[in-house]
Amino acid sequence: MENEKDNLHIVMFPWLAFGHMLPFLELSKCLAQRGHRISFVTSPRNIQRLPQIPPSLSHLINLVNLPLPPVDNLPENTEATIDLPYDKIQYLKKAFDGLEEPLTRFLEASSPDWVIYDFAPHWLPPITNKLGLLGACFNIFNAAAQVFIVSPSSMMGEEDPRSEAEHFTVPPKWIPFPSNLAFRLHEIRRIFDAVQENVAGVSDIFRFESTVRGSDIIAIRSCVEFEAQWLRLLNEEICRKPNVPVGLLPPSVQDIREGDDDESWIAIREWLDKQKSRSVVYIALGSEATLSHEDETELALGLELSRLPFFWVLRRPPGSSAAEELPTGFEDRTRSRGVVCRGWAPQMKILAHPSVGVFLTHCGWSSAIEALGWEVPLVLLPLTSTQGLCARQLAWDKIGVEIPRNEGDGSFTRNSVAETLRLVAVSEQGNALRTRAKEMRKIFCNSTLHDGYMDNFERHLKNHRLRNKLLKTD
Ligand SMILES: *[C@@H]1O[C@H](CO)[C@@H](O)[C@H](O)[C@H]1NC(C)=O
Repeated sequence: MENEKDNLHIVMFPWLAFGHMLPFLELSKCLAQRGHRISFVTSPRNIQRLPQIPPSLSHLINLVNLPLPPVDNLPENTEATIDLPYDKIQYLKKAFDGLEEPLTRFLEASSPDWVIYDFAPHWLPPITNKLGLLGACFNIFNAAAQVFIVSPSSMMGEEDPRSEAEHFTVPPKWIPFPSNLAFRLHEIRRIFDAVQENVAGVSDIFRFESTVRGSDIIAIRSCVEFEAQWLRLLNEEICRKPNVPVGLLPPSVQDIREGDDDESWIAIREWLDKQKSRSVVYIALGSEATLSHEDETELALGLELSRLPFFWVLRRPPGSSAAEELPTGFEDRTRSRGVVCRGWAPQMKILAHPSVGVFLTHCGWSSAIEALGWEVPLVLLPLTSTQGLCARQLAWDKIGVEIPRNEGDGSFTRNSVAETLRLVAVSEQGNALRTRAKEMRKIFCNSTLHDGYMDNFERHLKNHRLRNKLLKTD
């Protein structure tokens, strides 16, 4: 048993998106398992919607409510990106920035050893410095995406050399090895507000660079076994400060079993049980962005053309009209071999089911991690954020295949959907992908490996605290 006074008090401060809050919660659980005390800070409605903390850890994880200030154009009760259409998210960022003062008061009152924060609070590093607290920025994206986003010059306080959308469509010059890592024009156009100022007054890239630059260490959801050259590049050439992989934070068996007796899962499982081994295409495009009506139509008709069994989790943006329906007769024509699920579905359980053979994904890093733990090869359809970068990398590593799209507007056809699905599900080339996915399982589903990363991360947190204390008493 560790000595009680060795234990740390760590504040967690994720961005207001479930794709961020959940990995932060996972990291919190891993650290609480090692005896550290966590204050997990977010807004009240998000706290209500977080998954249950395991009873064995609940005394160590304190959920701290900070209500968001009202902001013009931000509807009431919207506290996470999932509550909003994409073009309203900038107002949520503005509300998030309004947490500066209450968070500062909380940090002053609680003086934690560490604050682990997301890319968004660009104003936080100066505050932790002033209060003499240590700060780690926790990057939920993979290392390659971070290499792409953060320029070496911005780390030295100079401007990012890229100012036009086109600059983001080629691999940056600080990548010294062959790579395809770049956005497509339609991808960077869609998120160009990320690199331009929006109503919140700063760009996303500015947020990203400020939090990375201002932190004492960088924690990253990755591992050397998957991204050796990218992690080395980040450490040695770009960030020039400790860049500590925390492992992939894969879901635990316990997480997957959670809710096994849930009625909606039992119905899904019964359907999956009836399908042939590794035959089903599972489709889920994450909780952040959704397809346009035209794209959704092509996806549906492509699925139909593919003649493969499928399970499609169809999410619509909040406030979308019921008129925007799937193609007429689609569900009748495919009922014998496909399911359209209009609501939440237990993704980890579905991916772990032996009938699932292909995952058509938006390439969120968490989704990829969940799939590759179960040897499921990927069909890649990135929608927003850094998903395009993740798709390029997974395609380069031959773990997935991208659905071909029109470079200018990002549109795709039913034929390209059907061909890509059949290529991965039933072709020769698909065999090679499945073999690669099988190899990946050794990395993505290896708790010994990831526990080792967490031990190392914990050591960093403790050593830095020791040094910080010595400095303060000097
Ligand atoms: C998991 O990782 C450890 C440490 O790297 C390694 O020794 C072991 O062989 C891996 N296990 C599997 C099943 O691949």
